[in-house]
Amino acid sequence: MAQFAVFASGQGSNLVALHAYFSESAIPHSICCLVSDKPACQAVAYALSKAIPVIYINYAGQDKALAEQQLVDQLRNYQPAVLVFAGFMRLAGQVLLHTYQGRIINLHPSLLPRHPGKQGIIDSFNAGDSELGITIHYVDEGIDTGRIIRQESFFRTADDTLPSIEARIHALEHTYYPQTIHALLDTKNAVEAS
Ligand code: GRF
Repeated sequence: MAQFAVFASGQGSNLVALHAYFSESAIPHSICCLVSDKPACQAVAYALSKAIPVIYINYAGQDKALAEQQLVDQLRNYQPAVLVFAGFMRLAGQVLLHTYQGRIINLHPSLLPRHPGKQGIIDSFNAGDSELGITIHYVDEGIDTGRIIRQESFFRTADDTLPSIEARIHALEHTYYPQTIHALLDTKNAVEAS
């Protein structure tokens, strides 16, 4: 049994998918808290509605290292085995990377290394890529550069539009992100028990 923290800044559809998946009684792992830099975002509203504890990280007017140290201090109360980024629109700094070395995972809506950055879906669509998809990867100091854990894809059809591509990508995310986090936590538990 392991716990993980979700990091989100926006809509929170992946938080919803993760929460639904890990709320199943047969699943031994669970979300311990949501971390957000945007107190008014939908992900925070969802977490509050489900009694998921919320930690705010406040970058405004202070050094990033200090902000991350305050976060790490608060996260100690929850003992997350891994940090799961799901639409968290900030780069992890040295304090977070060092404290949770090899234990921070991100979800990106393109087939990395193609189209890193904030607009993975729009960039994949505009580039005319015939194969599009998602990447689940470890977080390092770069922008979407960490070691890839899993990729899932589909082929564009003649009827696809930007909204339909967005929907297809989100459907992949909502299916494969929870499964992949589950498998990672199982592996981690097995290693620790051996
Ligand atoms: C997802 O497309 C994810 O790949 C990217 O940010 C988006 C978050 O969506 N990193 P949501 O907030 O979970 O709906």
